[in-house]
Amino acid sequence: MSPEVINLLQRLIQNACVNTGLPDSGHEHRSVATLQEFFGDDPRCGPCFPTFRRPASSLHTVKIYVITMFPGYFEGPLGISIVARGIEDGALVVDLVDLREHGLGRHRQLDDPPFGGGPGMVMMIEPLASALEPLKDTHRVLFTPSGDPMSQDTLDRWAQIDELTFVCGRYEGVDQRVIDNFIDEEVSLGDYVLAGGEVAAAAAIEGVARLLPGVVGNPESTEKESFRDGLLEEPVYTRPADFEGWAVPKVLLSGDHGKIEEWRAQRRVERTRRRRPDLLRNGKDSDT
Ligand code: ADE
Repeated sequence: MSPEVINLLQRLIQNACVNTGLPDSGHEHRSVATLQEFFGDDPRCGPCFPTFRRPASSLHTVKIYVITMFPGYFEGPLGISIVARGIEDGALVVDLVDLREHGLGRHRQLDDPPFGGGPGMVMMIEPLASALEPLKDTHRVLFTPSGDPMSQDTLDRWAQIDELTFVCGRYEGVDQRVIDNFIDEEVSLGDYVLAGGEVAAAAAIEGVARLLPGVVGNPESTEKESFRDGLLEEPVYTRPADFEGWAVPKVLLSGDHGKIEEWRAQRRVERTRRRRPDLLRNGKDSDT
């Protein structure tokens, strides 16, 4: 059966599930049974068809502690889409640790000027030591522009770990003794300076959440994406086939799946060569 037909059936059945008004998790839906009769068991997803999420009981849970001066920042990112679904299904637990509660004195001080002089402030060791001490059995990551670049490999690795701690740096930096004694890994979101590590932590949480079994309905969508095979993704199109004279490439409408795959592979290589030649040089696909 062609991927297009499977996709269409998945969408129809998904809609049927929604239309029954049953809750969108757990998948005790009657329509799943119908789909099973149609396709048989799918080994990728136990008793359910891959579009449907697994019951929470079968999930590996990743717990992420986030040490931040701004817990409120995460309200949006944790409450939306895939991350919210991961939390709801029990695949992901996020525990926000308010660093201010570990601050020093009446003013809950967190930062001080650098020894030796210079601009800006440095995050002090005492509050971070106090917040990190109970989390020493977790894998502790500090987000900082001077860290190793975060990549899909980083997220793949983190998604296998049971307990992670993400420390959101701020100001000019963090007292080096925190890094030397409490941090397992320093990671950067990219070669630019943000106001703090919160954006990086939110990006990492989302990147990890979508890798957890059952959180993204169709495992193929995480398997086939950009970077997995060292290439960027090809362009995609949907209806209408022609919008005010801008037509979809004919091959995609041809029904010839061999040709379509060939076209997609060519576009992936072409796009990667143009935008990210470093991936072709460094990656597994250096011979393409
Ligand atoms: N904090 C400030 N800039 C950052 C970056 N680029 N990556 C991670 N943490 C940061």
